[in-house]
Amino acid sequence: MAQSNLYSRVLGTGSYLPPNRVTNQDLADRLAKQGIETSDEWIVARTGIHARHFADPDVTTSDLALIAAQRAIESADIDPQTIDLIVVATSTPDFVFPSVACLLQDKLQIKNGGAAFDIQAVCSGFAYAVATVDALIRSGQHRTALIVGAETFSRILDFNDRTTCVLFGDGAGAVILQASDEPGVVASALHADGSYTNILCTPGHVNGGIVAGSAFLHMDGQAVFKLAVNVLEKVALEALEKANMSPDQVDWLIPHQANIRIMSHTCRKLGLPQERMIVTVGEHGNTSAASIPLALDFAVRDGRIKRGQNVLIEGVGGGFTWGASVIRY
Ligand code: UT7
Repeated sequence: MAQSNLYSRVLGTGSYLPPNRVTNQDLADRLAKQGIETSDEWIVARTGIHARHFADPDVTTSDLALIAAQRAIESADIDPQTIDLIVVATSTPDFVFPSVACLLQDKLQIKNGGAAFDIQAVCSGFAYAVATVDALIRSGQHRTALIVGAETFSRILDFNDRTTCVLFGDGAGAVILQASDEPGVVASALHADGSYTNILCTPGHVNGGIVAGSAFLHMDGQAVFKLAVNVLEKVALEALEKANMSPDQVDWLIPHQANIRIMSHTCRKLGLPQERMIVTVGEHGNTSAASIPLALDFAVRDGRIKRGQNVLIEGVGGGFTWGASVIRY
């Protein structure tokens, strides 16, 4: 039975970036060998990205998720055996199945039979996971949840396509959410419009034991840009309205880290000073479902985000999907 005074609260955060840091110049040199021109100047001016991290070939999404999860568990100071729900937001899972969440449960040696599943909402995956897990905790069905956004997008990048391969990176971010009589996640809003499949997709699929179709990420950047700026402002305001809050009560905005131009636009539209936005896109690139929890963990650990502050997270991505949550940290 749902209890009206039951909330889910962030107990701890963690994140992990694989050590291989690839600068724009590194990428420009690599592409030049294939006769493709790009530059640090173009990438910085159009996206705000200076570098991204790529996982080594034998490292999987669940490997990145494991380290982020261990760090979140440590910061929450809980016994991992009390985690009764694991949700991993990813579009680059280790396998077709089982889910990364199940692999992670095993890697963490959690033996309590709790639930584990993946959420596939691309760059909105973490926002989708927070809203879903919050509902499962508020209903009383689960008490202590591990949410991870983890990606190895480098695996689906076409390094012959300069319009996409310079944008994305690998990484993982995690949070522990636990039932509490204090908020917590205050309100969330989620949306999707499946008619936009073609502007952002990785259409390859397994058929007859082989990958049929392109397994590379395809994006119409300008179409995505236009849609993103439109829906991000709306969904942020929707979540704030549900939380009975106005934008000036937001201490920190954590947008999905895709492009500094999109992020700054939303921040301006909400009337927030740019200093109240957490920005990691410059060093992480776009890590899809991992970008928000990575940024959250960085800002918690460097002391910017403090207990009691209001954090607005928002994401947009393939599907098309978009979502936002207001979280009292
Ligand atoms: O995470 C999911 C959500 N994803 C996003 O939010 C991404 C949204 N889109 C974007 O961030 C931007 O549209 C991009 C960063 C992808 C592109 O920026 P843009 O300002 O929209 O550039 P554009 O696509 O209009 O391209 C401008 C020019 C083109 O050349 P011409 O046609 O003007 O001669 C491109 O061919 O820049 C060229 N170009 C490049 N030049 C150097 C495209 N990619 C590159 C590159 N290096 N890597």
